[in-house]
Amino acid sequence: MRYGYFDDKRREYVITRPDTPLPWINYLGSEDFFGLISNTAGGYCFYKDARLRRLTRYRYNNAPLDDGGRRLYLRDDGAALEHGNLLFWSPTWQPARRALDHYECRHGLGYSTFSSRLSGIESRLRCFIPQGEQLEIWQLEIKNLRQRPARLSLFAAVEFCLWDALDDATNFQRNYSVGEVEVVDNVIYHKSEYRERRDHFAYLACSAEVAGFDTVRESFLGPYRGWDSPASVIDGSLSNSIATGWQPIGAHHVRLELNPGESAETIFLLGYFENPIDEKFDPPGSQTINKRIVRSIIARYSQPAEAEAAFRRLRHYWDETLDVLQVETPDSHTDRMVNIWNAYQVMTTFNLSRSASYFESGIGRGIGFRDSNQDLLGFVQFDPPRARQRILDLAATQLENGGAYHQYQPLTKRGNNEIGSGFNDDPLWLVLSTAAYLKETGDWTILEEKVPFNNEDELAAPVLEHLQRSIAYTLDRMGPNQLPLIGRADWNDCLNLNCFSEIPGESFQTTENREGGTAESLFIAGLFILASQEMVAIYNKLDLVQEAESCRLAAEAMEKAIWQAGWDGEWFRRAFDSFGNPIGSADCEEGRIFIEPQGICVMAGLGLENGRARQALDSVAEHLATPHGIMLLQPAYSRYYLHLGEISSYPPGYKENAGIFCHTNPWIMIAEARIGRGNRAYDYYLRINPSMRETLSDLHKCEPYVYAQMIAGRDAPSYGEAKNSWLTGTAAWNYVAITQWILGIRPSWDGLEVAPVIPSDWVGFSLTRRFRGVRYEIRVERHGPGNQVQLEVDGEQVPGTLVRLPPSGTARVQVLARIN
Ligand code: GLC
Ligand code: GLC
Repeated sequence: MRYGYFDDKRREYVITRPDTPLPWINYLGSEDFFGLISNTAGGYCFYKDARLRRLTRYRYNNAPLDDGGRRLYLRDDGAALEHGNLLFWSPTWQPARRALDHYECRHGLGYSTFSSRLSGIESRLRCFIPQGEQLEIWQLEIKNLRQRPARLSLFAAVEFCLWDALDDATNFQRNYSVGEVEVVDNVIYHKSEYRERRDHFAYLACSAEVAGFDTVRESFLGPYRGWDSPASVIDGSLSNSIATGWQPIGAHHVRLELNPGESAETIFLLGYFENPIDEKFDPPGSQTINKRIVRSIIARYSQPAEAEAAFRRLRHYWDETLDVLQVETPDSHTDRMVNIWNAYQVMTTFNLSRSASYFESGIGRGIGFRDSNQDLLGFVQFDPPRARQRILDLAATQLENGGAYHQYQPLTKRGNNEIGSGFNDDPLWLVLSTAAYLKETGDWTILEEKVPFNNEDELAAPVLEHLQRSIAYTLDRMGPNQLPLIGRADWNDCLNLNCFSEIPGESFQTTENREGGTAESLFIAGLFILASQEMVAIYNKLDLVQEAESCRLAAEAMEKAIWQAGWDGEWFRRAFDSFGNPIGSADCEEGRIFIEPQGICVMAGLGLENGRARQALDSVAEHLATPHGIMLLQPAYSRYYLHLGEISSYPPGYKENAGIFCHTNPWIMIAEARIGRGNRAYDYYLRINPSMRETLSDLHKCEPYVYAQMIAGRDAPSYGEAKNSWLTGTAAWNYVAITQWILGIRPSWDGLEVAPVIPSDWVGFSLTRRFRGVRYEIRVERHGPGNQVQLEVDGEQVPGTLVRLPPSGTARVQVLARIN
């Protein structure tokens, strides 16, 4: 069953009923100011850091679902008076949840629109954040479709968060006494803590003359009432309350009188503003916010023409961004994901890492080291300068020993001490992201850029040295089988082999590990080889022959160790536990085969020559693949194993315990492409493609336009149900798998590689790619069933699969690839 449809022309997903299985959300903003917005306008917004600069409250795991956010109400004043028959509703359905005659939400790129109709009153709302600004614009048009005049009241309300979202949700003894507001000229200013160390405030402005306002929550709602039926909406008037302490809100009341066919536009602005520290107050010495600068911003965007122009700029930004890569294939699910939604999700994960979604509370996690480095793999072509900056920020949280803080806070860019380090895969991802940046841009100066270790400027060293220490970090931590020690965990956060936790609720990730843990990771071994291949290429480019050679030898030794201890007979093993026993082996009772080492080892080229790559992937197909995607392991762990950690804490079929952990699936797609099996690679791609799963929305539950981190595996009662949509490494990796390995268009050191491994029944496809300032127009034609490529570049036959960089000044290159 579906709850909407794709409008590919407008790059929108159209939701046609408000009660989707879960709130289906979108993101506003792409720089410093962000909003999460659901299909009923739920959600919240924040400046830079979803925990420390939260503007509005949101209560997760509440009931009813998702009733917090941008709250709008329309009240039919005429009806209320004439028939004693009270009529009020929310034009976005929530929070009033009154049945509407018509409802439609369109999630677009960086904006969402909501249109609805009830009793002859039509409303259209558009929410977005202008580029370069720190405010949400809500443009609301109300139209009277009746034959008679309509007298209406419009209410708009938000509940302010007292900035630190964690503190706001826990520290009531203080917070109930610090709330402060000012109300001037149709603008409500939220200024809690402004009197002391904050120089920022939030505001809710209204473009129209207001009939009243409220800032005391209980005045607006009435005692013991909820947002679904506020007493003042029912009464049709607000009490101009001024909050001191308790729960400051912003609520405006606008009266509208509309003749038949007439409409009115009202603009609300929900914004954040930071004053210069020595000009906080006006007049100086008072406690009143200096509004001189913000007033002009508010005045500007209160004008419909300015809001319109800002919206056009936003659309232009997304058109330009997506134009980097556009494809036309025989399959619409592929086209819309590659051209629109997967690219959009990649941008979102880059911006927000794993911080704020409807599954990430915004207070739990900062920017993850491994997460963001992987996000970069899919992001780098969209905005190389921002990618460069992110690489430098990440590198600055690397430790002197080559290890890395697992996360950093976006506001301070400092490593997060609570989570610490010791996830032994972390540093290697920096090599992959930097290599991807180099291949995309050819900007070798990044390697010379001096970046601190541990954010300490005295310890600054060139990025190249950071990469070297990443490699050294692995080599300094080898275990009994000459395989890398796993530390707290590797990519699989839940494989905590040195943790042995017996205390309820203790964090598996941060608790002290047992001394001298000797558990080893095959995954890190594979990742090390992959990273070493990039390092060797980098060294060669820099003419560092010796370094290249020693790196190559280290990778060779690693490969030997993998074949010696890591090959199980039909697949790659996963790890060795701290007693030296293999995990992910036919000898195990449970957890006999894991997906991760099959993916990473084949991606690193292992077993391509001796047939074992094929064998490992056949084992994946036999033991792990399901119609809903590929499970992480089998058989699922049926009980808690002290020596395995969090992985066995999940009931079978969920998360890392045999769930379909979508992040890992593209590794298998890439691996299949590497051994030339285009049909298999593409089949796996389609199984988890969100658009492809749209018709399963009742089961899938999450948004059909973005990937979710997990789909419940075969062992779970809710097999096929997705969770944790939006912020997942799945976005970047799927983008890489489909564009670079299946469609096969990938940046490389000296040009653009064109090596498609597509399904045998495709006649071909065409693709445009902006790469190093040149526009490539690529046509791929299938002439035979295989993957042999014959290239023609601007009409000339070229051997191999590489389209070399053209002479400078070239704007356009035409590529024809015949595959046989
Ligand atoms: C989550 C984490 C990621 C980890 C994965 C597997 O997606 O964000 O860092 O690799 O889970 O445990
Ligand atoms: C699991 C989750 C991951 C999270 C970790 C720590 O790995 O999949 O998202 O980082 O647990 O809580």
